[in-house]
Amino acid sequence: MVVGEKCETGIKEIDVQMNGGIPVGSTVLVAGSSGSGKTTLCMQFLMHGARKGEKSVFFTITEPLFKLLGNLEKFEFFDKRLVDNGTVTIIDLRIIFERMGLDTEDYTVEDASALLDVLKDIAKELNAKRLVIDSVTALCYRLKSDEMIRDFIFKLGTFLAAMECTTFLTSEIPPRKFKYSKNDIEEFISDGILLLGDIERGGDLIRTLQIVKMRGVNHSRTKYAMNISSRGVELAPLLKMR
Ligand SMILES: Nc1ncnc2c1ncn2[C@@H]1O[C@H](COP(=O)(O)OP(=O)(O)O)[C@@H](O)[C@H]1O
Ligand SMILES: [Mg+2]
Repeated sequence: MVVGEKCETGIKEIDVQMNGGIPVGSTVLVAGSSGSGKTTLCMQFLMHGARKGEKSVFFTITEPLFKLLGNLEKFEFFDKRLVDNGTVTIIDLRIIFERMGLDTEDYTVEDASALLDVLKDIAKELNAKRLVIDSVTALCYRLKSDEMIRDFIFKLGTFLAAMECTTFLTSEIPPRKFKYSKNDIEEFISDGILLLGDIERGGDLIRTLQIVKMRGVNHSRTKYAMNISSRGVELAPLLKMR
């Protein structure tokens, strides 16, 4: 982490809670089930930086590029020009796997290390200030043993800690489970956790966001009601349930 500097997320309530933003250089786990808004929130975070001229990289592994772009173009915060001019670089990790000859069922510890080196090189070459890996869960799918997964996640943590960019890692979790990640270790390499969930109220499912942890920041752990509209992710105080 870079002491004192803040990375504004562009999501007002988070920035206010964080006294101006997430500490620069932090790794934040964005955990939630499918459709909870992880990809949208992460891209909104990158676009916010890009508008201020900060370069960023979005590594996607859950969705092919054309599908991702198709979904994002519907949001007002998404500015395709910032992708076209190289401020935001979106990379389909499956293409990298193919180029590295890793398009196999499973890969070895060495393959995984080589993959991390490639990610590091790309982020450095592009001088990225913000980084997203969507998702860390899918990135670990092809590692066959728990030990390999643990080793890989810790290496990923070491690599991210050494970088000066602020990183969002998405984590896929089953709905309504008190869990932050599939392997239960992703949270240990993370300085912060944003938990996306939902609660049922009056027969309606309300999206929620909770800042579960953020190292170096005194924040509240209140749940916010989260809305996704064409403006992207917006938070509002969640009124107490009756
Ligand atoms: N333009 C939009 N307006 C309102 N909601 C949207 C819009 N686009 C997507 N959504 C909502 O966002 C959800 C997808 O969010 P996404 O960020 O892809 O989730 P995740 O990455 O966690 O699977 C969809 O389920 C949909 O309900
Ligand atoms: Mg997604």
